[in-house]
Amino acid sequence: MCRIVIDCDPGIDDSLALMLALASPELNIAGITTVSGNVPVDMGTENAAKVLNWMERTDIPIYKGDAVPLKRKYIDAMDTHGRDGMGESFYPAVSYPKQDKDAVQFLEELLEKEKISIIALGPMTNLAKLFLKRPDLMGQVEELVSMGGSFKSHGNCSPVAEYNYWCDPHGAAACYDAFAKAGKKIHMIGLDVTRKIVLTPNILEYICRLDPKTGEFIRRITGFYMDFHWEYEGIIGCVINDPLAVAYFTDRDMCTGFDSFTAVETEGISIGQTVVDSMNFWKKEPNSHILTETDGKQFMKLFLSRILKKNDG
Ligand code: BDR
Ligand code: CA
Repeated sequence: MCRIVIDCDPGIDDSLALMLALASPELNIAGITTVSGNVPVDMGTENAAKVLNWMERTDIPIYKGDAVPLKRKYIDAMDTHGRDGMGESFYPAVSYPKQDKDAVQFLEELLEKEKISIIALGPMTNLAKLFLKRPDLMGQVEELVSMGGSFKSHGNCSPVAEYNYWCDPHGAAACYDAFAKAGKKIHMIGLDVTRKIVLTPNILEYICRLDPKTGEFIRRITGFYMDFHWEYEGIIGCVINDPLAVAYFTDRDMCTGFDSFTAVETEGISIGQTVVDSMNFWKKEPNSHILTETDGKQFMKLFLSRILKKNDG
C-alpha cells in the first residue's frame, strides 16, 4: 500500500477526488493537508472534514495549510465552486479534531520519518514552502502527482493558465525548480487530460439509481458546477479535474505522456502558464512527466466501480 498525503482545496472536484482516494484500497492516506485555492483555507478545511465525515473516515487527520499564495494576491474560485466551495450544497459543518501542527510542519515531520507520495489538487503553496525550507527532504518524496497546468490545451482562468498554477504561480514554479534540482519529475495532470473527464447528467442519474445515498451527495455538490459549465462553456455536465490525478496515481495506464523540462511563468500576461519544453530546446534534464492522453470511459469505470456502494434498500 502506498503511503500518501493529499494536498487539496475542496472544492467540488477535490471532494470527488477525496471520495475516490478514500475508496481506493491501494492507498494508505497519512493525512490531508489544505491550502487556499478554490476557497479560503478555513472553508476548504471544513469541506475536507465534511467529505471525510460523509465517507465515515474521520480517522484521517486534516492539517490546515497556507492562507495566501507565496507572493501573488490571493484570488479564490468561488464563482465556479459556489459560496461554500461545495456547489452551494450547504452541508452543515462537522466537528473534527484540530491538529497542533500546520500542513507544512506535518509534511516536514512525516518526511523526516518515512518516504511519502503526494497528490496535489490545489495551488502548491504548502509544498513550495516545504521544498524551499527543507530541500534535504526531497529524497523522501517518492512521487508528486499534481493536478495543474496545461500543455496544448487553453487555460481555464486566462488564455494560457490553469487555475491552480495561476493562483500561486511562484509556488508552482518553486516546486518545478525543486524537482529539477533534485533530478526528479512531477507528474503533471493538466487540462489536456482533465478536460476529457466529464461527469454528465446521465452518469449522475446512473449513480443515483445504483447508489441513491452517494448519488444524492454528488448531485447536491455538482449541480452548481454543471450550471457553470453550461453557462460559460456550453458543456452539458461538468469537468472533474482532480479525481483524475488520484486515478492516475493508482493506475498508471490511466494517462500517457512524455518527459520534459517544464517551467512556470510567474509574471506578465501569461502568469501561471506551464512552459513545457517538449522539443528540448533548453537541453535540460526533464523535471516533469506531462500527461497528454486519457480515456474518459476508462476513468469513469474506475471511478464508479470504487465510489458506488451496494444499495441496501
Ligand atoms: C483546478 O482548479 C480548481 O478549480 C479545481 O479544483 C482543480 O483543482 C482545475 O483548474
Ligand atoms: Ca482543486
